[in-house]
Amino acid sequence: MRVLLTGGAGYIGTHTALVLLERGHEVVVLDDFSNSSAEAVRRVEQLTDHAIPLIEADLADRYETRAALEGVEFDSVIHFAGLKAVGESVAQPTRYYRVNIDSTLVLLDLMQERGVDKLVFSSSATVYGDPDIVPVNEQAPAGIGVTNPYGWTKFMNEQIIRDAQTAWPELGAVLLRYFNPVGAHPSGKIGEDPLGIPNNLMPFIAQVAVGKREKLAVFGDSYPTPDGTGVRDYIHVMDLAEGHVAALERIAAGVKTYNLGSGVGSSVLDAVRAFEAASGRPVPYEVVPPRAGDVAELVADPALANRELEWQTTRSLAEACTDSWAWQSANPDGYGE
Ligand code: NAD
Ligand code: WQD
Repeated sequence: MRVLLTGGAGYIGTHTALVLLERGHEVVVLDDFSNSSAEAVRRVEQLTDHAIPLIEADLADRYETRAALEGVEFDSVIHFAGLKAVGESVAQPTRYYRVNIDSTLVLLDLMQERGVDKLVFSSSATVYGDPDIVPVNEQAPAGIGVTNPYGWTKFMNEQIIRDAQTAWPELGAVLLRYFNPVGAHPSGKIGEDPLGIPNNLMPFIAQVAVGKREKLAVFGDSYPTPDGTGVRDYIHVMDLAEGHVAALERIAAGVKTYNLGSGVGSSVLDAVRAFEAASGRPVPYEVVPPRAGDVAELVADPALANRELEWQTTRSLAEACTDSWAWQSANPDGYGE
């Protein structure tokens, strides 16, 4: 296939581009570089020895995107583009709704205009809020207990895509609900490069280990979990990338929704210990009060994706920490742009 990756210069997009190219697909990247750099795409080109056409455009701008994609051929789309910082979404709700919703609306219209009828969408486990049953499966109610505008944009985008498919029955769409993506390509050449202070646990730990930050703030140790810290399902980004390829290769008219997670829960302190072991560096931490909106435990039941996509995770949290350390230690300032 020839796949357009919106937001393809970002963390998950670059790893997915690499796996797609290795599996013999072609990719085109569209990005506005609001949270990434062209250097990331150049590194994927080097790793795979394939050229990647790179289009700079704001997907939320219909006219700019239409003009930028003129004459560019693709037969399917993986839609990663969007803003993803939970705290920032609370402070800037209109920006988050505009960028994340408009991007999807523009993309769906352009796909229909051009007869491109295969779409994979980056959704999030955040749509489950604080589910009653963990591990959570796709039957659990979504949209109840979502605590921030970012999460609402994922929930709303899922509904927009379902409605678009009802009106355009040829469309095949897969909504992938990611749990907590971590790690990097084992080469250490590509990885997660957050701007400013990382919001997420793993990049924060990595910056403490490399000496960029003094200590980790552990958000609460009185949750009803084995060690009192929050439990999450950390999925290696290479496993996640492979999940996209599996979804794309099986896409058929209709809408399917899958959890992409490992099914294994790890606490904040498990993650600290795994990173210390992988890096050989200490990760000092201090327990602080819980972060607003956090849930005690969120772990995937990935059985549906295991069965229907014939996909499963094969990499452990320890491996994710080793690969993340390879990236962080070789690129302490990320892509440096
Ligand atoms: P990322 O920020 O690294 O990648 C997103 C990319 O989209 C960036 O390269 C950014 O420059 C680009 N972008 C943003 N707005 C754009 C616009 N208007 N037009 C064109 N490009 C635009 O994030 P990521 O971690 O790779 O996440 C990819 C997708 O997966 C996002 O939709 C995110 O919400 C979703 N997701 C991420 C996580 C996670 O923890 N990383 C979890 C669940 C879902
Ligand atoms: C993981 C655990 C924190 C930072 C978020 C989004 C979700 C999805 C993935 C996009 C929790 C604890 C964290 C720190 C800590 N993204 N923690 N100190 O909150 O599970 O999910 O990213 O869709 O939508 O909400 O991930 O990495 O922020 O936190 O103690 O400095 O680490 O309390 O238990 P989260 P996270």
